[in-house]
Amino acid sequence: MVSLLENPLRVGLQQDRIPDPQILVIFGASGDLTQRKLIPALYQMKLDRRLPPELTIVGVARREWSHDFFREHLREGVEDFGGGLGNEAVWKNFAEGLYYCPANIDKPESYQKLKAFLSELDEKRGTRGNRVFYLSVAPRFFGEATRQLGAAGMLEEPDKQRLVIEKPFGKDIGSARTLNRVVQNVCREEQVYRIDHYLGKETVQNLMVFRFANAIFEPLWNRQFVDHVQITVAETVGLEGRAGYYETAGALRDMVQNHLMQLFCLTAMEAPNSLDADSIRSEKVKVLQATHLADLEDLSKCAVRGQYAPGWMKGEQVPGYRDEDGASETSTTPTYAALKLMVDNWRWKGVPFYMRTGKRMPKKVSEISIHFKEVPYMMFQSAAKQLNHNVLALRIQPDEGISMRFEVKTPGNSLRTRSVAMDFRYDAAFGKPSTEAYGRLLVDCMLGDQTLFTRGDEVEASWRMLTPLLNVWDAPADPKAIPMYEAGTWGPVEAELLLNCDRRRWRRL
Ligand code: BG6
Repeated sequence: MVSLLENPLRVGLQQDRIPDPQILVIFGASGDLTQRKLIPALYQMKLDRRLPPELTIVGVARREWSHDFFREHLREGVEDFGGGLGNEAVWKNFAEGLYYCPANIDKPESYQKLKAFLSELDEKRGTRGNRVFYLSVAPRFFGEATRQLGAAGMLEEPDKQRLVIEKPFGKDIGSARTLNRVVQNVCREEQVYRIDHYLGKETVQNLMVFRFANAIFEPLWNRQFVDHVQITVAETVGLEGRAGYYETAGALRDMVQNHLMQLFCLTAMEAPNSLDADSIRSEKVKVLQATHLADLEDLSKCAVRGQYAPGWMKGEQVPGYRDEDGASETSTTPTYAALKLMVDNWRWKGVPFYMRTGKRMPKKVSEISIHFKEVPYMMFQSAAKQLNHNVLALRIQPDEGISMRFEVKTPGNSLRTRSVAMDFRYDAAFGKPSTEAYGRLLVDCMLGDQTLFTRGDEVEASWRMLTPLLNVWDAPADPKAIPMYEAGTWGPVEAELLLNCDRRRWRRL
């Protein structure tokens, strides 16, 4: 029998190849993402010798920066937000490949100028016409930039030219479809890399290995043994000066439709036939198509939104969402969302998947927990008032690891039980933190591996599932009707009730 790991079709989750020489063009390069995440992650890849020596990066944005200014700006990013320069000579070599090209995203002349500049760089740096165009701009420009790249003939060669699109891909099913059409008009699906940085996280990739490389979990991973599943992505940060974007996005578009849905898919999907990109992505689409909000007649029974009010975090007073720079004083944008989903298929029928995400929570923590059913008949007394179910917790970040909670006998004469945990920790087992997600994903894209990127039909399936809720939450609402939670707490009380009504409760993290 051929196991998944012996299958020659595998490509994605295991390669250490070096990409061909190429130019990475970043649109929106003067923004935070480039300075704080993309370049520090790529530089780490450089230090790890995962990049081709010819790699050339061209930043594109409206500001009139020089190449040298851009290089200095990125150097500061590596020093302040990355792991530091490490070796000055390596930085010098990396910086020689950094260029800046001022451009206007909606002006055809800008694309002609860029095209000519890239050809010059091909000559100078030996990059052979290979390009990755990364759209790290405000989502409303995704369509325009793609159209213009197409019109300028910069996406005509599927083997050499790729397009990376940041999230959120669309703002609902209609706009996602339109954007897919724009993209598919100018290039083939094999050229499109819809990025979700959660898929680049080591622990997220491990979900598949954990599920499908261990025989002991699969028999339990279904409606017969699982009572329910919880997915939490909690953040301590607030708006971070991103009102312009966040006011139009909110927690559903910023986190749920992409990051949380990816965690959900990897937890709930069936085993793919092989590890090639399309087999995995097809399984994700299948499970999304079977998934719906738990109560479509009354959405208030399966979805809770909230917005943070002023509060205290680590001894400091922090403002409420409506007092943040750029946010409207009467904003109804949710910074918290909790949902209950059901999956209508043979594996999961009747098992609720609860998910929650919020900003200004007491702790940064992302976790998936599988709560198993109770034993059929409990003959022991528990030390705790309430008997604890077995829980398998997959800790995505920080403190990456996996723990299994089970009951044991407490020492002494009486037969009483208590919950204990068996714990696996990445740092203890492997001695090093996981690689930054963006670095891994960008290298995969340069290698032409789409496994960890979202396919067009996948993104549509997840918007479709959320559409009934978007329709309600997008409707004008009385600001007083939005449940509030104090910054530094675990969300509005309504979110507790969502589980309490089912005689369950959120896991304490
Ligand atoms: C981004 C969201 O995609 O993910 C941010 O736009 C959020 O609002 C961030 O803070 C969280 O990412 P991470 O990797 O810190 O969990």
